[in-house]
Amino acid sequence: MSSVGVLVTGGAGFIGSNFLHLLAETRPHWKLVNLDVLSYAGNLENLSALEKETNYTFVHGDVGKSEDVGRALDEVGSGPTWVIHFAAESHVDRSIQSALPFVETNVMGVQVLLEECRARGVERFLNVGTDEVYGSLGETGLFTEETPLAPNSPYSASKAAGDFLVRAAFHTHGFPGLITRCSNNYGPYQFPEKLIPLMIANASGDKELPVYGDGKNVRDWLYVRDHCEALLTVLEKGTPGEVYNIGGNNEYPNIRIVRMILEVLEKPESLIRFVTDRPGHDQRYAIDASKIRRELGWEPRFTFEKALPETIAWYRENSEWLENLQSGSYRDYYERQYGARA
Ligand code: NAD
Ligand code: DAU
Repeated sequence: MSSVGVLVTGGAGFIGSNFLHLLAETRPHWKLVNLDVLSYAGNLENLSALEKETNYTFVHGDVGKSEDVGRALDEVGSGPTWVIHFAAESHVDRSIQSALPFVETNVMGVQVLLEECRARGVERFLNVGTDEVYGSLGETGLFTEETPLAPNSPYSASKAAGDFLVRAAFHTHGFPGLITRCSNNYGPYQFPEKLIPLMIANASGDKELPVYGDGKNVRDWLYVRDHCEALLTVLEKGTPGEVYNIGGNNEYPNIRIVRMILEVLEKPESLIRFVTDRPGHDQRYAIDASKIRRELGWEPRFTFEKALPETIAWYRENSEWLENLQSGSYRDYYERQYGARA
């Protein structure tokens, strides 16, 4: 597969940047184009190591603007083109404060992207989705690909709408869309508004750790490298029209995660603050990933016991990366590198 050109949307975010690093390492002959609007969550510092690569190009633009998508697809060139769509508003708490940006990017953005990709004859299109579209579980049970969608937050509702648009493009137009739905990721380059990096950042600075409600909500954690390898597997081997769940079979209540972080950092539990619960807070997510294992042969390689301490070490070793996010100076990176304001 030496001549594939891949458009990665949202490549300056957490999972997108990890995915670009994976491609640069393992698919050095592929042409890589990253289309990113550089929202608050986009950080080109995540990709500084890729800038010297001749097969990597950054395009500053919005997935919701057809001219920007067209420019990015032009950059990929005329050979076989695959698209992997990460770009999104991704934080549940922000969607509770203000839902419209989620509808603009996660719904309208998907449709604009689909129309441009269909017009250009894109050969494979992978929509990176979330298990949150399935809603919330009680103490038992797992989400399968057949679980009915029942999103509970504006974020998950907008992601469900995006999935449905991809499904409709496949059924109506024969567009080669694939959908994945993954559980909570952790690892390097995650914006410190999400549970694990926020708790690492606060504990490192001896600040309070805000735990919503009673801390007993459960998430199914997956190391971001495992997620990226699963996405590459689906991009290369998945069947268009299909949905693949991705998860690590690794459930923990939030309070356990917070205590593990404090233990590794040798910080006191007195930093924990139980605060007002998130409105509509989903109780439990847990993924049945047997379909991708059975049909495509993917399995997670990293254990939580090993990858969580390594993740904590990464944030400690990359304190400048974290400081630049906290000060806001990461937003000047585009100007410094490309000579114009993002
Ligand atoms: P993120 O918030 O870290 O990054 C999102 C990226 O998209 C940023 O670089 C941002 O600048 C870019 N972006 C936002 N709006 C855009 C627009 N209109 N046009 C172009 N670029 C835009 O998100 P993440 O955590 O890396 O998540 C990536 C994808 O994976 C999302 O679709 C998310 O729903 C999904 N997902 C995330 C998780 C998780 O645990 N983080 C789990 C399952 C699925
Ligand atoms: O399940 C996949 C989803 O996981 C992705 O689709 C989302 O993009 C991603 O943000 C994540 O959603 P969550 O809402 O599960 O992640 P978050 O890190 O915001 O919260 C994880 C849990 O921790 C959740 O139960 C809320 C709780 N929490 C979170 C924060 C930020 C706290 O207790 N305190 C906090 O300060």
